[in-house]
Amino acid sequence: MRIAKFFVAIVALIFVVGSAYAYNGIIPRPVEFEKRNGVFTILTTTKITHSAELRSSAKYLAEYLPLEVQESNAAAKGNIVLKENKNLAAEAYTLEVGADGIVIEGGSNAGAFYGVETLLQLLPAKVYSKQIELPVMLGACRVADEPKFEYRGFMLDVSRTWIDVDGVKHYIENLAHHKINKLHLHLSDDEGWRIEIKSHPELTEVGGFRGPGSPVAARYGKWDERYGGFYTQEQMKDIIEFAAVRNIEIIPEIDLPGHSHNLARVRPEVLCNFTPDMESSFGYDTRSALCVSKEDNYKFLEEVFKELAELFPSQYVHIGGDEVVTSQWKKCPDCQALSKQKGMTSGAQLQEYFMNRLSEYIVSLGKVPCVWNEAINAGTLTKQAMVYGWESVEACRKATKAGYKTIVMPGTYFYFDMRQSAREPGHNWAAIFDASKILKFDLKEQGFTDDEIKNVAGIQASFFSELYISHLDDESDYLQYQTYPRICSLGELAWCGQGAEWNEFYLRLVNSHYSRMLEMGIDFRMMPPVLKYEDGKLSASTDDNSHMYYSVEGDDGVYPYVAPIKTDKPQMYVFHTELGGARSADVAVDAYYKMIEPKVKITSSIEESSNNPYSNAEGYRKTGRTSRAGKNGDWLLYEFDEPVECRRMYIGTGYSHLPRLLFNAGYVEVSDDGETFRKAGELYLGAAIIDEPEKPIKAVRIVCTEDGNGAENVIVQAPKVYPKL
Ligand code: ACM
Ligand code: ZN
Repeated sequence: MRIAKFFVAIVALIFVVGSAYAYNGIIPRPVEFEKRNGVFTILTTTKITHSAELRSSAKYLAEYLPLEVQESNAAAKGNIVLKENKNLAAEAYTLEVGADGIVIEGGSNAGAFYGVETLLQLLPAKVYSKQIELPVMLGACRVADEPKFEYRGFMLDVSRTWIDVDGVKHYIENLAHHKINKLHLHLSDDEGWRIEIKSHPELTEVGGFRGPGSPVAARYGKWDERYGGFYTQEQMKDIIEFAAVRNIEIIPEIDLPGHSHNLARVRPEVLCNFTPDMESSFGYDTRSALCVSKEDNYKFLEEVFKELAELFPSQYVHIGGDEVVTSQWKKCPDCQALSKQKGMTSGAQLQEYFMNRLSEYIVSLGKVPCVWNEAINAGTLTKQAMVYGWESVEACRKATKAGYKTIVMPGTYFYFDMRQSAREPGHNWAAIFDASKILKFDLKEQGFTDDEIKNVAGIQASFFSELYISHLDDESDYLQYQTYPRICSLGELAWCGQGAEWNEFYLRLVNSHYSRMLEMGIDFRMMPPVLKYEDGKLSASTDDNSHMYYSVEGDDGVYPYVAPIKTDKPQMYVFHTELGGARSADVAVDAYYKMIEPKVKITSSIEESSNNPYSNAEGYRKTGRTSRAGKNGDWLLYEFDEPVECRRMYIGTGYSHLPRLLFNAGYVEVSDDGETFRKAGELYLGAAIIDEPEKPIKAVRIVCTEDGNGAENVIVQAPKVYPKL
């Protein structure tokens, strides 16, 4: 048995160390990596020894490598030794694997931690699921490494989609494996307040939940259930400690003064023109910005931030500042009086007054106030603030040029809620990109001058979770699918300061890192298979050792792909790949996706919006809008000039990928003569798919069965009509 295990270990060794690709497959790539002669064998009797300062990293290593940990300054042979080396920068390390043992020297515990992370990458992938079997042989090598950016961040939106303590911890664990060291938690937004504030328990007890029974409107597909959750301060302390062991600092964000619909529902007095009876037609005042002129608002926020500053050890406190609907202040006599008194002429100035008041308080707590880039638009925000540039590269440059320490995270490269190819799930308003694009981000090529670069404090990516919630029941985890391997690229860029050439990086990913991510429990996204149709044969290929599958239009089965398919209808086939929990997008030849645009007339029981008439949707290029939310009994009618023959018709309200501004509930009816209708299904997330209709369709009617949708109106989409194949 032992011999068999030994043999397995040797095979693993040959696989890892004998590889021809660069840096031994390590991600992010180390500054220096040198292979040496010889091997070291980690036995069950090998010890991890460490100097006192590095206890945390030594114990962390022992979680993965089940070895005895001893505090000792003696560099005994045959051990894994962790030592502090004050000549190194705090996060720098060296790692030497020699015949006599393994030595990791770190500039501090953080540096030793990254030495440990690199050591894990030299071990068989099973180490990540804590199932490594000893002994293991390691080829000798030397690594010398340090990060380029001190701030290597990721932002997670736990407001729109609630992620519980274990979910966040699992996420932290994997960020640490990619040498990310900041987790910015977006703890409040219009849809939920997620952190307990002891002096204001209502913020979570009420504002932590939305939907039925809550004054906070239901959103994003959770219409008929109370939805939410929050972290108690005790739970957050536990998360903070868990993260600290992994050299990750948790940065809290309360997004103000906009994105505060939730807060305004719990404490309506924070709004402008507050009167106790101010409700909009369906019971929800949808305004989201706090009144700037109310002294009570500052008093309340100071109580909140005092607790947060005590709870979170991070030097940073993020106070938001993005996408504020400043028009609300124009209608407020008090905000207007304040504006006049201070000689202001714009909403941006009022916003900066608010941000400055709050920033001053954050500074008085000994912390750095952090803001989204809009917060500097009026040009008066304190330079003590750190700016998070999300809107564009230009917005990032503007902040650095103005002298702000800046976190660079333009959505076009760093919003991992964007879709990864045109037909995958995700947003597309910033860009559509996969892991390869992130590696191309280069500050100089983006036009940053040397002086501007001096103000770049770090790089961050983010995941806003409006879409996550409607994917919670997917087989693979949507959050992980959207963020890996893009986080691998982020780690490479933020640690190294510069990306890598994709082909080289991809080899490291596929040949080493895919198996690691599988053991980390990550349902990552793989590159889709490449299809070829030639000589009447449809073939698919991959370059990542994944398993290929296909399905056939009109057939529910999923079949392993083993050989080219002989067919004169390649458009009938859809392919994807799988590897453990990892998956690629679905792909088919272009003809599969082709849609037709039969002439249609759209009418409704609800008057159309004057800015977005229904004719927008009739033209198949834009969307129309109603002038109000739907009520039980409202309908939308799509009448085609000629009966439409098709294999599938999609009729939808709301955005096609984002469940809001829709008929929350209802059903769809079809008619082949335009007069008699029969029910063809229930709405799901505001839309219905009519699959394989028996007869050509003359008209479709969507009937709404629920009052309201937590918003002012309903988006009316063009039909999506797929012809017969
Ligand atoms: C943001 O995406 N509104 C920061
Ligand atoms: Zn006001």
